[in-house]
Amino acid sequence: MTTRYRVEYALKSHRRDQFIEWIKGLLAVPFVLYSSPHGAFDGKDISRLSQTAEEAHRRYSEILHDVEVMIDDHIASQKDPNNPFPSKLKLLVPTVGPFFTRLPLEAAFKYQDSRRYISSRRFVSPSFNDVRLILNSAQIMAVTTYGELQLATFDGDVTLYDDGESLEPSSPVIPRLLDLLHKNIKIGIVTAAGYTTADKYHARLHGLLSAIAASTTLTPAQKESLIIMGGEANYLFQFSPGAPHLLAPVPRAEWLTPEMATWDESAIAELLDAAEQALRDCVRSLNLPAALLRKDRAVGIIPDPPGVRIPRESLEETVLVVQKALELSRVGRERKVPFCAFNGGRDVFVDIGDKSWGVTVCQRWFGRQLGLADNGGAIRGENTLHVGDQFLSAGANDFRARSVGTTAWIASPTETVDLLDELKELMEKKKNGASS
Ligand code: IMP
Ligand code: MG
Repeated sequence: MTTRYRVEYALKSHRRDQFIEWIKGLLAVPFVLYSSPHGAFDGKDISRLSQTAEEAHRRYSEILHDVEVMIDDHIASQKDPNNPFPSKLKLLVPTVGPFFTRLPLEAAFKYQDSRRYISSRRFVSPSFNDVRLILNSAQIMAVTTYGELQLATFDGDVTLYDDGESLEPSSPVIPRLLDLLHKNIKIGIVTAAGYTTADKYHARLHGLLSAIAASTTLTPAQKESLIIMGGEANYLFQFSPGAPHLLAPVPRAEWLTPEMATWDESAIAELLDAAEQALRDCVRSLNLPAALLRKDRAVGIIPDPPGVRIPRESLEETVLVVQKALELSRVGRERKVPFCAFNGGRDVFVDIGDKSWGVTVCQRWFGRQLGLADNGGAIRGENTLHVGDQFLSAGANDFRARSVGTTAWIASPTETVDLLDELKELMEKKKNGASS
């Protein structure tokens, strides 16, 4: 039984998003019933092909409408503190978390269907990626239509630039980020990359920083609306045209939340020691071509010699082992200091804190700048969008941001560009609608 459980776990839990899998399962039914694969090659009646596509489109839309209503019900029960019962959605998908906005899934499906021709497919059922992109579209429709986007936070590697690369001046993401600043949207780059000095962040983000510095159309306040939150939630820098490397370091005392201020230095050291030991054990037992890297607020293993690839399975095994070892360690059981163990694609890191804290710091920092009075002076979750590539529940670091704001799950910097274009179109449509 134990072995069976472990095999199931290894095959499924940490590599699947249960909400997406559940929606995929619902869409698989009309796919099987209405997709008529023979219509693609019997050549008898071409009009039947478009009829079946229409039928599939109608059925998929209905299902997504029903899920939309179920999310509304979940949100209503989430808002009612006296309701002891789980929502229907929670019963069906126990891992589902809080929703900050309702999700117009039917409209989002129609948009994605017009781009991806999901209903016209006869052999390939609605996929994980189809559903992920429908959820992204629904989320950005929601943050622009039901409310107002005030803060956009972005992960670095894989989201803004390819893994291990930098934001070069030619990146198509740069004009899109400048456009957000022009629209008075605050930007936080919330990355695990943990450096204590501005030069290192400048090296990774120089294309964006130089473009902001050179802009003649951004106001000084808009320029200062970019911050970098590094090491998940450990180092804060603000764009500053006069500072060395265009980034001014902000002392921790100016931005730590009251909860973060209680993280005790000796507990942090104890946690990193335990993580280091667990990582060393994995390097030995899995014979990994890796070197250990200990930092002030993180510990990780990186490929050694540089450039060698550690197998994906070994990276995943390491994360899961380290996560468990830390949960069971004395300092982990006391839960005094949150941590985040994740597979970075080529390396494994354990960081102090996680992106929920990193995004929270951005919400408070900019909330104060905006002079917000309610919500403790912080930008609210429904007015925040975090864009990242790591949303699996174990071994992924963007996942934690879900607890403090809305999120979009992208798979490459190109998808980030597409998402920002979609966002721009929606914001301009809303603005034009309001002014006409
Ligand atoms: P992100 O995708 O922007 O969150 O960056 C994750 C990557 O940053 C990791 O995969 C590492 O390669 C790199 N990195 C550099 N320094 C650190 C650190 O201190 N903690 C975690 N990741 C780091
Ligand atoms: Mg990333």
